[in-house]
Amino acid sequence: MQNRIDQIRREAQAAIAAAHDAAALDAARVSALGKKGALTELLRGMGALSPEERPRVGQLVNECKAELERAIEAANERLVRETREQAARTERVDISLPGRRPARGSLHPLTETLEEIVRIFERLGFVWEDGPEVELAKFNFDELNFPPDHPARDMQDTIFVDAGDRIQKTEDRIQNTEDRIQNTEDRTPEGNGSGNPQSDSQILLRTHTSPVQVRVMHRHKPPVRILAPGWVYRADAIDASHYPMFSQVEGLLVDKQVSLGDLKGVLIHFVHEFYGRDTKIRFRPSFFPFTEPSAELDISCFVCHGAGRVEAKVCPMCKGTGWKELLGCGMVDPAVYANVGYDPESVSGWAFGMGIERIAMFRHGVDDIRLFFEGDLRFLRQF
Ligand code: DAH
Repeated sequence: MQNRIDQIRREAQAAIAAAHDAAALDAARVSALGKKGALTELLRGMGALSPEERPRVGQLVNECKAELERAIEAANERLVRETREQAARTERVDISLPGRRPARGSLHPLTETLEEIVRIFERLGFVWEDGPEVELAKFNFDELNFPPDHPARDMQDTIFVDAGDRIQKTEDRIQNTEDRIQNTEDRTPEGNGSGNPQSDSQILLRTHTSPVQVRVMHRHKPPVRILAPGWVYRADAIDASHYPMFSQVEGLLVDKQVSLGDLKGVLIHFVHEFYGRDTKIRFRPSFFPFTEPSAELDISCFVCHGAGRVEAKVCPMCKGTGWKELLGCGMVDPAVYANVGYDPESVSGWAFGMGIERIAMFRHGVDDIRLFFEGDLRFLRQF
């Protein structure tokens, strides 16, 4: 028995010493100490020994096992060290190589455009105002003097939100509270311009940023001088120049003795700052329900620079007119003042609204609005 143990030990020690990689070392371990290994086999055969012999042989086997485990451990350390030394001899680290730069994002062209618009108007004292994208028809249409049958109110043009009777319930609650507070006073309904019970409770995704005008005037007494950027929504089919969601910036200035000349001066300043001083500008009479008079501002086409022709062909961008429409503007209609409780006799002011995608498209010569929303890095990296 003693001989057999010595033999197993010798053979295992030799195998361990000869192992030059982890797989060979493991094979040596398994063949001696594994479930079917030589030493394990020997332990199993101990039943045949006499009761006096058993403890002695058991002890010898255990000693041999412990010895082999130590040898395997040492061999393992040797292998790790050898591998490391080998690697150090063959691998070269080039410390002069530049590091890997982490990918840094950049501003989306629409964000960048908006920031620049805001910077220009902030220097003129305009402050940023937000309004909700889910809006009441009352603010989106009625108080802006849209007549009840205006085509913009059509389901074809506007995305309405089905709010069930939630709005009505909220209004009933407010009404009850007010009734309790003022139950002795005669209540005359506030002129909110709508007088249209249906659109008082209608909810929609705002079709323009103009409702922020009336919201601000309800909250603040004149003078006001605000810029209101944000998303707007229309039930438009998608093509190169239409998208059901896009963004606008609204401007509103109301004060004493404000004139159309002030409006023109500010907008000309904006165009010169944003597009450069050589950009030509014209104001064209137009119509909006909430401004009177109203105008559209055109700038010289950025493709043909106003010539209307490119290499003797009709300019594809402006269709030969030499002009591109940039924004809508006008003097705030007195009917709007009446809706927000301003006195049309003592204040005057103007407003404008522009699409940010359009502004960015003109600036960068982008010919398809969809590019702004597709997230294609080949497009976005160009800015
Ligand atoms: N809200 C208009 C639109 O979406 C744009 C506009 C025109 C805004 C004239 C104005 C304005 O403030 O004065 O088409």
